Amino acid sequence: MTAFQTLSWDRKTDTLRLLDQRRLPNAEIFIECRTLSAVSEAIKTLAVRGAPAIGVTAAYGVVIGLKEQLDCHQTVDEKNFLGIINILAATRPTAVNLFWALERMKKLGLTELEKGLNPNQLYKCLLQEADRLFAEDQRDHRRLGEYGAQLIPARARILTHCNAGALACADYGTALGVIRAAQSAGKQIEVFADETRPLLQGSRLTTWELLKDEIPVTLICDNMAAHCMAQGMIDLVIVGADRIAANGDSANKIGTYSVALAARAHNLPFYIAAPTSTIDFSLADGSKIPIEERDADEVRFFGEKRTAPAAVKVYNPAFDVTPAQLITAIITEKGICKPEQLTSIKP
Ligand code: MRU
Repeated sequence: MTAFQTLSWDRKTDTLRLLDQRRLPNAEIFIECRTLSAVSEAIKTLAVRGAPAIGVTAAYGVVIGLKEQLDCHQTVDEKNFLGIINILAATRPTAVNLFWALERMKKLGLTELEKGLNPNQLYKCLLQEADRLFAEDQRDHRRLGEYGAQLIPARARILTHCNAGALACADYGTALGVIRAAQSAGKQIEVFADETRPLLQGSRLTTWELLKDEIPVTLICDNMAAHCMAQGMIDLVIVGADRIAANGDSANKIGTYSVALAARAHNLPFYIAAPTSTIDFSLADGSKIPIEERDADEVRFFGEKRTAPAAVKVYNPAFDVTPAQLITAIITEKGICKPEQLTSIKP
């Protein structure tokens, strides 16, 4: 277990408890979601974020939506059930883990509805599936971490971008999971965390969680990464992913592509760490990955402070796609593979 809990389900009150990541690092506050709209809002506004965490949250969101429906109407039909799924699917477009988790909940729900399961049984059955998704996330990211740790030298200075840690998953993390596993194996690790404009997941979240686990970390602004590489301060790069196409092209937080280009220019390994639930085998390459565009004020402001004229035009894509040829290897819970070998781990 990490030193904090990103999300948890309270069995006594049927409530989803989320560590509110919008408030970190200034306040450690939990929000309690009891309605479908509260869960959707939490995902949209990044109270909970990171591809695997969004998937698990959405699974519990289905359970909460079903409970609301049953409390109101004592019954649920296929149309209403699909309505719950669709509301959650409309929250964020890029991280495929959201759609992967919803697909599992939908498949199970529709099968059980067809069997004519009574509402209480249906509720129990879907809650069990959400719990399974949570437990698989914990198990898979530990496995992924152990595979990834094999790639890390005994002493390593590792650059990461955004937050692909326990805050982005049910627990442990993907890129930071590899770092945790390497440190546990006795390796001497120092992390360089990119600040990650505009929403500062690197400076607000990655540094917070690494300091909690006493993993040495140095914060840099995004535009310092190439300079640090040129100065010989970085040995390798590890980041997470939101969606990986069948050829290995990988979408991750905006700025990842520039880091990959800089790593290639300095001959440094660039690794993606992600569970297989992040791979979208239906997309041949990264050109069709939907890229979320977010509110312009995220760029016009730095935190609470306006740093640009209100009238200035803004472009604010939340993700970019790193081409497979810039990726040294992809680390999953099923092992490490070259981007071009991804299809060998297709389920
Ligand atoms: O917009 P966010 O904060 O949800 O973006 C998160 C990322 O880009 C992470 O790097 C990615 O989801 C991997 S999390 C294990």
